[in-house]
Amino acid sequence: MIKLTDEQQAILSTTGNIRINAVAGSGKTTTLVAYAKSRHPSMRILYLAFNKSVKDEAIRKFAEAGVNNVTVETAHSLAFRGVVRRYGFEIGFHSPLMIAQFLFPDQHLIPDHFVTATHVQHFASLFCNSTAQKVSEIDYRKYIKDPAELKRIDHHYDLLELHTRQYLAAMHKRQIVCSHDFYLKLFQLDNPQLSFDTILFDEAQDASPVMVAIVKAQNHAVRVVVGDSHQQIYRWRHAVNSMELFDYPQYTLTQSFRFPQLIADLAIETVRTKRHFMPMPQIVLRGTEPTAEVPIKTRAVIGRTNISLLAEAISLVKSKGENYKIWFEGHINSYLFGDEEGSLSDVLNLFNGKKEFIRNEMVKRCVDLEELKEYSKRTGETQLTRSIDLVNKHGKALPSLIALLRKRHVEPEMRHTADCCFSTVHRCKGLEYDEVFLCGDFTHEKMIHVFKEDPDRTPEELAEEVNLLYVAITRAKQRLHLPKECVPESFKQPMRHSIKLIRDSDSMEKLDAAASRKEWFWRSAGERSAQPKRERKTREPKGSEPREKPGSAGTFWSKSDEEFLKSEFKKGTPPRMIADTLGRTRGAITSRLKLLHLIEE
Ligand SMILES: Nc1ncnc2c1ncn2[C@@H]1O[C@H](COP(=O)(O)OP(=O)(O)OP(=O)(O)O)[C@@H](O)[C@H]1O
Ligand SMILES: [Mg+2]
Repeated sequence: MIKLTDEQQAILSTTGNIRINAVAGSGKTTTLVAYAKSRHPSMRILYLAFNKSVKDEAIRKFAEAGVNNVTVETAHSLAFRGVVRRYGFEIGFHSPLMIAQFLFPDQHLIPDHFVTATHVQHFASLFCNSTAQKVSEIDYRKYIKDPAELKRIDHHYDLLELHTRQYLAAMHKRQIVCSHDFYLKLFQLDNPQLSFDTILFDEAQDASPVMVAIVKAQNHAVRVVVGDSHQQIYRWRHAVNSMELFDYPQYTLTQSFRFPQLIADLAIETVRTKRHFMPMPQIVLRGTEPTAEVPIKTRAVIGRTNISLLAEAISLVKSKGENYKIWFEGHINSYLFGDEEGSLSDVLNLFNGKKEFIRNEMVKRCVDLEELKEYSKRTGETQLTRSIDLVNKHGKALPSLIALLRKRHVEPEMRHTADCCFSTVHRCKGLEYDEVFLCGDFTHEKMIHVFKEDPDRTPEELAEEVNLLYVAITRAKQRLHLPKECVPESFKQPMRHSIKLIRDSDSMEKLDAAASRKEWFWRSAGERSAQPKRERKTREPKGSEPREKPGSAGTFWSKSDEEFLKSEFKKGTPPRMIADTLGRTRGAITSRLKLLHLIEE
């Protein structure tokens, strides 16, 4: 049973709207659970979570605390019920091709059409996440960095705005499916009154203006808004200084219960690197008192991007035995098959010349990876660029390596049995692990010194890069391993006990051994191969690994593999491609589709 601090107790004593802006691991979510428990059971309480992983974790925490009068939702799940179900919209994803086809019907599409369609999509998303009533209230030009592209857009700005309005109107009239951004915007414009007495809004630093507007409009309810402005990492989803938008009395929590003082000090110095491009930020963070070491039960590798995590997971799993289990926060499918342009499988199929298997029409239309890279540069799709780099690195061996990852991946309900979790920093917000390893793709202080000279990089953008590193560091409860570049120059303390540097000579293979012997190992998260030396000798030359029997051939169909099969089949993904991804034969895929009555016997 947790004994609340005076700071936490003070929050429980409040009766009106409040805002709690407090550091990582200081017990914000715990305080919200205690707050709900302290209210009368007849009170209707809404806990608004930012994303699915925070939502799942909250459901578990409220149940554990025996609180039954709390409904846990995300803004999107509320809007889904309020708009999509109510008005019968069909939701879906739009690729730039679909938007281009809608905007330029009967025309032979050329790359410029796709670039325009991508801009229309970004423009519409900006509008949907804002509090604007009309598209004309947004000046999209402010968001374009490339001078040549800005010139082109400025020249045709009225037309771009018209296209954006046409695109939004088509969703409204149900001529095309409705995007997630759009139904949330419709929900806000509908002025919903949520039937709750109290609204607990966690991770509010990442709320977009449209989410803030929905919560602020609930004047009949008491609102407890919780966040950490240094953990704002969703600027790309339009969150900007969101905590400041709630002008309620402010409370704070300064004691972290998650990690020892050494990690707290590292987190403070990391946040302070913002001084290189903005006034020195204020941050007070006290760690826990030293305690006897307890066994490490949960371990995570945290990366900035999907692709770097996949690269790390491939290195690790290749060196482990069959019993080694992994879990990707949010499920591995979302790391492999994003609907966005960065989908690894599409890039791989372009590399292999298997155009018939490419789902994304934009990718399909490119002659080769070079042309795709040029497109990703113009539209700023960094995820796509990283996918191209990974495909260039592993070549034809990549499908069997991905099949191996899937084979070792556990089902969601078995998440706690995984030997290692992999997560992007965005997917593990609010979560904690005994031991954390950071990938080498974070923006560190040396890079900041370079980036701050770049006129295209705003201080807000740089601050978010620092926040990403701060969030990742503060997921660690006991031990943190990180590349030395990620340690700020001002952090002069000896690396011992809870923090260890990842050395270039360390290998992924040593990870487990290190945990059991209480030693410290890691490898550089750079381009270096992590394959054990003895294996390296016998390794096939790059791109010529023999085709093995598919990894999962003859094994049981898990629930998530079956879900994946159904959804990919419905999207029109060719069975051969599904077979490759699931590590099964094409015959097995066909049999399963028959069994599920998705194709004729
Ligand atoms: N008063 C307390 N005494 C002891 N442990 C506590 C107390 N309050 C919270 N904790 C523990 O501290 C850890 C961090 O708590 P919690 O997840 O609520 O922090 P948070 O501020 O929400 O973190 P984040 O910023 O990552 O969302 C948890 O393991 C929780 O059980
Ligand atoms: Mg929390």
